[in-house]
Amino acid sequence: QFLALATLTGLSAACGSSGRPATPAPPAFRTELRIPPLLEPRTARDGTRHFALKIQRGRTELLPGKPTETWGFNGPHLGPTIRAARGDRVRMSVTNRLAEASTVHWHGMRLPARMDGGPHQMIEPGGTWTPHWTIDQPAATSWYHPHPHGETAGHVYRGLAGMFIIDDGDTPELPGEYGVDDVPLILQDRDQAGDADVLGGTFGILGDRMLVNGTYAPFMTVRAERVRFRVLNGSNARRYNLVFGDGRRFHVVGNDAGLLAAPVEVEQVSLSPGERAEVVVTFSAGEQVLLRTVSGGDDIDEGDFDLLKLVAAERLTPSPALPSRLAAPEAIVVPANARVRRFRLNGHDAINGKEMDMSRIDEVVPAGATEIWEVENTVYAHNFHIHEVAFQVLDVDGQKPPPYATGHKDTVYVPPKSTVRLAVRFGGFTDPVTPYMYHCHLLRHEDSGMMGQFVIVEPGTEDRVSRTIAH
Ligand code: C2O
Ligand code: CU
Repeated sequence: QFLALATLTGLSAACGSSGRPATPAPPAFRTELRIPPLLEPRTARDGTRHFALKIQRGRTELLPGKPTETWGFNGPHLGPTIRAARGDRVRMSVTNRLAEASTVHWHGMRLPARMDGGPHQMIEPGGTWTPHWTIDQPAATSWYHPHPHGETAGHVYRGLAGMFIIDDGDTPELPGEYGVDDVPLILQDRDQAGDADVLGGTFGILGDRMLVNGTYAPFMTVRAERVRFRVLNGSNARRYNLVFGDGRRFHVVGNDAGLLAAPVEVEQVSLSPGERAEVVVTFSAGEQVLLRTVSGGDDIDEGDFDLLKLVAAERLTPSPALPSRLAAPEAIVVPANARVRRFRLNGHDAINGKEMDMSRIDEVVPAGATEIWEVENTVYAHNFHIHEVAFQVLDVDGQKPPPYATGHKDTVYVPPKSTVRLAVRFGGFTDPVTPYMYHCHLLRHEDSGMMGQFVIVEPGTEDRVSRTIAH
């Protein structure tokens, strides 16, 4: 399913076009980065784009000499990239070929709760689920992964994850040729010993081997002056502090849920599980540089690791200059009388002292509301993800977030013993009986119950909503 797993032959071929001998890569970085293929939709007569996903089992040698059972969408590991544009009507058909039930959640997507793919939309073995909706949100890098309650960590760790790119006609001149100068990077860590316990310890998996798009120690040949990387932290628990080996500066152009108003120059970007960043990196012909993650002094970002070697070709295709303004979604304005809801994370298996209960509605939100959600973490590292919404980080312990993290987001790091305030804008799909989730995206915590449920209802009907749902 994935594009050629290159060997040394592939490397020579890749570098051979300059007519000069290929530079030998160090042994650790000689496998060509896999690029998840784009999933080709079938377009129905009414214009609906049909995407078909099959959840299946396979075997993959993720680490050299250690073939293991893996799960994937339409292949043995990970899934194809789905790409759709604002205004598209899409219909997914998700078939489950596993021996156990799962779900597929469209992380970052604004859609009716019944289409969300959370723990209430289980797909039984052999079953097919066919959610459909109209894409109506700004350009962004989203993703999809299973969400069966109590089982998400295992399902994602075995390989069930894929990118979902949303295009918007407004998108300015950013690099956009998929796999060439617009490249997905799914960051995940594996436990080399192979005996990782996804629900063990405080954080579950914190692996010692890094994969990018399922490729261990990969290289990528860069052919354009500027490359946009869509980086997804698809790990169970690890936080990445991304830098380049030569300390070069680069630009962040987008957060989880949309572009920034203008590119922000940085030398480091941090991503906790589930977060995305779109970055643009400038290269000189013939150079090589490593993308790395460095220790951040927290339990979940311990260790320095090389992730990906970027090898620039001897001739690079000229790229347009980085635009100075980007088509960012409008800032989220918090009304003076905005409702404030408080969420307390202590331990790893509850929010506000309550463990996730599929039959309990924790919060009832009126459609279209803008609220402040205040997330207080009294212990070690967590993060916080809210389905359906876009939010902006107001402050972390009273401090503004760094400029590169001021855009629209759906997942945020909540550092140990700190409080994060979010300006949250809710959508308009009402359904008093089908909840959306909010939770810590450290999957071991999510699975243990650090998750709650909210419904969106017609304004004025909040009091009539039953707090218990049958299923
Ligand atoms: Cu990425 Cu509720 O999930
Ligand atoms: Cu957590």
